[in-house]
Amino acid sequence: MPAAIDIDSVRKRYGSFEALRGVSLRIEAGEFFGLLGPNGAGKTSLISVVAGLNRATSGSVRVMGHDVVTDYRQARQALGVVPQELVFDPFFTVRETLRLTSGYYGLRHNDDWIDEILENLQLTFKANANMRSLSGGMKRRVLVAQALVHRPPVIVLDEPTAGVDVELRQTLWHFIKRLHRDGHTIVLTTHYLEEAQELCGRIAMLKAGEVVALDRTANLVGRFGGGQVSVRLSGAPLPDSLAALVSGDAQPDGRIALRVDDWQQLEPLLARLREAGCRIEEMDLAHTDLEDVFVKIMNTPNTPNASGASAS
Ligand SMILES: Nc1ncnc2c1ncn2[C@@H]1O[C@H](COP(=O)(O)OP(=O)(O)OP(=O)(O)O)[C@@H](O)[C@H]1O
Ligand SMILES: [Mg+2]
Repeated sequence: MPAAIDIDSVRKRYGSFEALRGVSLRIEAGEFFGLLGPNGAGKTSLISVVAGLNRATSGSVRVMGHDVVTDYRQARQALGVVPQELVFDPFFTVRETLRLTSGYYGLRHNDDWIDEILENLQLTFKANANMRSLSGGMKRRVLVAQALVHRPPVIVLDEPTAGVDVELRQTLWHFIKRLHRDGHTIVLTTHYLEEAQELCGRIAMLKAGEVVALDRTANLVGRFGGGQVSVRLSGAPLPDSLAALVSGDAQPDGRIALRVDDWQQLEPLLARLREAGCRIEEMDLAHTDLEDVFVKIMNTPNTPNASGASAS
């Protein structure tokens, strides 16, 4: 079985700037895969190359075994991309837009499936509305619908929930999870790391055009273990001996977050606070989550070929 998406040593240069610096990733059929990274990391550039919208400077990409350059049509048929940017022809209605997209894929009688997509994205009531009359969140739903009209086995969503309200977010994930259960491969980029942690089985982190982490989500979150102790103190300031554990800035209400690598460190930490004369006014414990891991990885200087990347 070919990989859903096989990215081999892809480099992308814009003038003298190199946005992708040798990215290799193999996403298997049936995966729910997360592609994460800060603004400008190269996620959209990579997706454009996968979608055949942008040529890689070097390297190659296959979608379901089809090379995106030499076998463009078949690669494109296998792929549905929800783009990050909202672009539409404002004069068409939602249904016309979806029929037109179907036409690009040579599908003429696609209304049953279009109706099902509209229903699942709660867009039925806007089927005959002009694109320009839709709110931003509704336009984004149409983008999702457009990516699905040809029932592609591989679906790539570039920040599908940016600017989307809670209800649609839940509707959308419900639908995407169903497509995943039905066997579709899902690739997601998002800045909502909670979403990625909940949904993605495996995650790649991109930083300045390079893959700096690649692992199962559970392994990534488990890699650093431990958690955070958030305390608001009175009586005495935090003793200097604990300063190294502080993570981030103090909160407006005076709370300080202290990192512990495992929960065995909690008891001695509390003892040191007591010995220093600190009184604990409030305390919360939180397990390390994907956001902590992301921040930690992004703050680690890049070391080429020592990314800690490991296979699934
Ligand atoms: N057409 C272009 N011409 C020149 N530079 C570009 C072009 N497209 C992207 N870039 C640059 O390439 C880098 C990667 O951009 P890209 O859009 O891929 O990032 P991203 O990871 O998708 O970020 P975001 O989270 O903000 O969407 C950025 O520095 C960006 O300015
Ligand atoms: Mg982007």
